[in-house]
Amino acid sequence: VSGGSPDHQRFDAGAFDDLVSQLDSPMAVVTTVAGGERAGCLIGFHGQCSITPRRYAVWLSKANHTYRVGLLSDAVAIHLLAEGDASIAELFGTVTSDDVDKFERAAWTEGPHGLPLLDACPHLIVARRVSLFDDGSDHVCLVTEPLEVSTAGSFRPLRLAAVDHLVPGHEAEDRPHPDSSRDAAS
Ligand SMILES: Cc1cc2nc3c(=O)[nH]c(=O)nc-3n(C[C@H](O)[C@H](O)[C@H](O)COP(=O)(O)O)c2cc1C
Repeated sequence: VSGGSPDHQRFDAGAFDDLVSQLDSPMAVVTTVAGGERAGCLIGFHGQCSITPRRYAVWLSKANHTYRVGLLSDAVAIHLLAEGDASIAELFGTVTSDDVDKFERAAWTEGPHGLPLLDACPHLIVARRVSLFDDGSDHVCLVTEPLEVSTAGSFRPLRLAAVDHLVPGHEAEDRPHPDSSRDAAS
């Protein structure tokens, strides 16, 4: 549907949010490192996106420190959170490494590619970034190739409903909005 059509104008973002929130997405923490700088944030936007070969996508907000480090790194660790991981979700979802080094507040071990692996989160995918897709919206999509997986067995995911009261360290609209030269001229 092209922008400006009657269908587009009727779009109700609140109805969309209500519908999608019923999926009650499982939560994850993605960590990465580049040039010795560690980063990580809570994500709800993630999922498998190919079968052969296996691929897993994560979406990073352009407002986040993790996004800026992720642009420079070639690998990520995707920690799938379990029901008991609410305090890890709170640390990685409400604090930004623009202010505080989260890795001084959570136990971690250095893994492949120098990635910080969270000791409290055993359900893990270590993956290599194969592409990055930016459609101009407020998140970018990183498509990754899983290199290693580990788990402590079956688990019940920590879901959005358990953490949707958290206030993100950065709201998506925190991203920079440079003035357009055409706006400035008008
Ligand atoms: C419930 C919830 C879901 C979130 N989902 C995402 C997400 O899918 N992608 C993302 O980049 N940030 C997401 N965030 C926001 C970041 O986790 C949050 O802004 C974090 O503090 C950023 O830290 P950083 O600046 O150190 O990277 C979410 C936050 C919450 C509370």
